[in-house]
Amino acid sequence: MSEQTIASHTDQRGVSFTASGAEAVRHFDEAMTSCLGFRRDTDDHLGRALEADPDFAMGHCTQGYFLKLFANRALDGRIAEAIAAAERSAEERGATRRERDHIAALSAWHRGDWQAALESWERILLHNPLDVLALKLSNHMYFYLGDSLNIRDSVARLLYAWNEETPGHGFVLGMYAFGLEECGDYMDADAVGQQAIEINPADVWAIHAVVHVMEMQGRHREGTELLKTSENVWTRCNNFANHLWWHGALLLMDLERYHAVIDGYDNRIRAEESDDYLDIVNAVSLLWRLEEAGVDVGGRWQELADKAEARSGDHLLAFADAHFMMALAADGRFDAAQAMLGSMAEQAERAGGMMGRIADDIGRPLCAALLAYANEDFAQTVSLLEPIRYDLKYVGGSHAQKDVFHRTLVSAAMKSGRLDLARALMSERTADRPTSIWNWRTYARVLATLDDEAGAVGAWRKARDLLAGLTL
Ligand SMILES: [Fe+2]
Repeated sequence: MSEQTIASHTDQRGVSFTASGAEAVRHFDEAMTSCLGFRRDTDDHLGRALEADPDFAMGHCTQGYFLKLFANRALDGRIAEAIAAAERSAEERGATRRERDHIAALSAWHRGDWQAALESWERILLHNPLDVLALKLSNHMYFYLGDSLNIRDSVARLLYAWNEETPGHGFVLGMYAFGLEECGDYMDADAVGQQAIEINPADVWAIHAVVHVMEMQGRHREGTELLKTSENVWTRCNNFANHLWWHGALLLMDLERYHAVIDGYDNRIRAEESDDYLDIVNAVSLLWRLEEAGVDVGGRWQELADKAEARSGDHLLAFADAHFMMALAADGRFDAAQAMLGSMAEQAERAGGMMGRIADDIGRPLCAALLAYANEDFAQTVSLLEPIRYDLKYVGGSHAQKDVFHRTLVSAAMKSGRLDLARALMSERTADRPTSIWNWRTYARVLATLDDEAGAVGAWRKARDLLAGLTL
């Protein structure tokens, strides 16, 4: 422990930190701004904070948080070290209630108790509504619990404490915009997201929120335009840029511009063959959709399946597990896929509680359904997926991301001859998203197979008219 005087220092929003000097908190503050902006220098700033004060409790705690965000078991040892360093510092130097709650939240997250982590962050935010770290992390966790209301309301609950003078106000609006979008409030999401972009054109999360709105509303041209005009901003951010390339590809997919999608896949989305779960999720989701559309994706599954197989025992996010399973199944690695289902059951039993139930009741049948689909057992896919389709939200991810599971159910219903179900699902989907070209095209195919000629022609016309109005 250093001999320096330990005191309370505040960040740019007036939140107190126990540290040996103001320099550590200044670097920490920079790390927060970088993190909110998805910049590449977040770890550098945090490293400098810890250099300035090697026993900085919130520095160690935040290092543990950032490692947790990778959802990678290989990092467990380093996370445990970060927790131990933060706890040691709090014990020897003393710490505020907020800092102790943060350390408790990290510890709970690390042992898989998401509810306890959220309770700690919510407690922090009740008394410290300007703690952007607690806000960002609770937002992240609500996202991976599929809790749309809380993605929105965790931000709404503290808006009273923020105004345009508060540093980072735009970032908070960007988070709020995404929550509004996930709750289906597209008009407000669009307005709040645009306001955040106006405040800070480099707010990648706000750009992302508005792109989501455009995806859900079938505003292909505007979505593509927004991505293009802000490309100089988001291509300079961390690997979240790959997710924005993915969003651009989704807009192109709906227009059946498959060559452009493949080109984006090879040269952007998967230009770097990383094993980061979000990178794998983006890539898997796109290849699965391309195959569903009848596009030959060649040997592209192989490297993804290699990465997925190496991560198939992690079981840290049900949403990532589902995509790892898709890669294994699509590449024909059925033994590895079966082994993964087995280890998911073991992990669910070990975890128990809410996370165990989500893994067991939703994550596992979802993975089994995806495996059955790749194995061409379409009846089995339907029997596994149809009963849980309203619960799929609990595996986390955005509506746009989870749509791949719902499309798989439609496809399996058609391929297994369950045309009654396919028609019902497509009737539902076209009512919910009437500007989706894929919806109308698929509805037309289902109705044609059912010999409903008039219905099929009407659906084709809808698809054609949408496409005609959207030439990019
Ligand atoms: Fe997204």
